[in-house]
Amino acid sequence: MDLKQYVTTVEDWPKPGISFKDITTIMDNGEAYKYATDQIVEYAKKVDAELIVGPEARGFITGCPVAYALGIGFAPVRKEGKLPREVVRAEYGLEYGKDVLTMHKDAVKPGQRVLIVDDLLATGGTIDATIRLVEEMGGVVVGCAFLIELTYLEGRNKLDNYDICTLMQY
Ligand code: PRP
Repeated sequence: MDLKQYVTTVEDWPKPGISFKDITTIMDNGEAYKYATDQIVEYAKKVDAELIVGPEARGFITGCPVAYALGIGFAPVRKEGKLPREVVRAEYGLEYGKDVLTMHKDAVKPGQRVLIVDDLLATGGTIDATIRLVEEMGGVVVGCAFLIELTYLEGRNKLDNYDICTLMQY
């Protein structure tokens, strides 16, 4: 299946100069959503993932069905102030802005094999911060999977020491 035909590009959103990749047109098509999920499930099996970690909000849409399909857990990464218990926190720079990401301090067990899943690899700031959170808890990042990679932003360069899987490149 050519997944790119289900991605909608929105120019100058949310700011002038940003070419936004809207993945809701993958998710609202059952076949495309299942196909994309199945690709990441196969990758998760290959790297022998024991836990899926996904950043809000689109990392939930992308990562949760993978965890469900494998019968393994999902741990959310959330912006600061959203999680109710003690957290670990990491600052990060986004394609458009800056923020803080958090995870519950007990979300990842030491030695646990973690696959990080998100919709999009842009500058890599979100994933870099997520990796720091997982590793602070002693987790082992066995891979990072994305629907889309914006290759011109070179986010991959931040992830030199990690195995990366991307289903579409722009
Ligand atoms: C988007 C996207 C990735 C991140 C990629 O999320 O879903 O998580 O940006 O950018 P980066 O590689 O430059 O860090 P956003 O923070 O906009 O949150 P959302 O999913 O809640 O819209």
